[in-house]
Amino acid sequence: LQNWVLMVTAQTPTNIAVIKYWGKRDEDLILAINDSISVTLDPAHLCTTTTVAVSPAFNQDRMWLNGKEISLSGGRYQNCLREIRARASDVEDENKGIKIAKKDWQNLHVHIVSYNNFPTAAGLASSAAGFACLVFSLAKLMNVQEDNGKLSAIARQGSGSACRSLYGGFVKWIMGKEENGSDSIAVQLVDEKHWDELVIIIAVVSSRQKETSSTSGMRDTVETSALIEHRAKEVVPKRIIHMEEAIQNRDFPTFAQLTCADSNQFHAVCMDTSPPIFYMNDTSHRVIGCVEKWNRSEGTPQVAYTFDAGPNAVLIARNRKAATLMLQRLLFHFPPNSDTDLNSYVIGDKSILK
Ligand code: PMV
Repeated sequence: LQNWVLMVTAQTPTNIAVIKYWGKRDEDLILAINDSISVTLDPAHLCTTTTVAVSPAFNQDRMWLNGKEISLSGGRYQNCLREIRARASDVEDENKGIKIAKKDWQNLHVHIVSYNNFPTAAGLASSAAGFACLVFSLAKLMNVQEDNGKLSAIARQGSGSACRSLYGGFVKWIMGKEENGSDSIAVQLVDEKHWDELVIIIAVVSSRQKETSSTSGMRDTVETSALIEHRAKEVVPKRIIHMEEAIQNRDFPTFAQLTCADSNQFHAVCMDTSPPIFYMNDTSHRVIGCVEKWNRSEGTPQVAYTFDAGPNAVLIARNRKAATLMLQRLLFHFPPNSDTDLNSYVIGDKSILK
């Protein structure tokens, strides 16, 4: 029987780093020069949905992203596919009368259909959700018997930040010491219930694709920045310790101070790169000003901000009340249809403006 198809669908949310990963010590294996910590978003927003299918009728591996076929020939896709196939086990579907032996996986091809419910490559960590979902769904399809730590090390080879999307809550990517990357894995620090008062607002400043990919940006930074070594060796290790403590104790003032400082330092090393990289724009800077001013006037931080490789602001409010007040401020300073291109706010489970 040659016409059967076996499918698995999975959904994976994206994650936003509060202590940033920036810089690789090994580009092929994707090994970072520092540890990083992130928060995984609610799966209802900013997530990737991926369906993977296997059939003897497929004569090559193929993938469609947001409805368009993309090439799987790149090293990152190939590494993930190879690592998952190498760990495949027997699969049996009694209802359909399908039996796939471990060794058959080497000759069977897969079709992958992936969809992001948010702008791709706009600095909203689309590759994090994408590769985590790809690895997870392939692992389910091929009955891979590995824990999430092992799967995170595979997702990491697709996109570094993807390793952190295999868990909910707050997650640490341990850079590891081994040359083969076996100890460069993600671990969950606390689950999503631990600090559930936090509300994340994403102010979409621009959904255009970024000009400098994180891969080439990181390479240029590591090669040319005089600050990056100081950041990776002196600053981040201490921040990781303090951030873990702040998360365990739900200490918002410390959390906010570290989150904002680390975002600013990441953008500082980008500017210290030759040629300089500017991910934030004027609107991003005005959002920072607005949050800083409000936090200072309250005497204690209400909201933390962080920006990835793009101009969009990720605002983490200490609770729902602070989030509502933050939104009111944003709407006042950046009214819809004004000359700034701030065009939508996502809060909790609602997209408030479009
Ligand atoms: O995993 P990449 O190559 O998309 O790099 C992500 C880098 C940042 O988003 C800027 C920081 C991070 O830790 O996620």
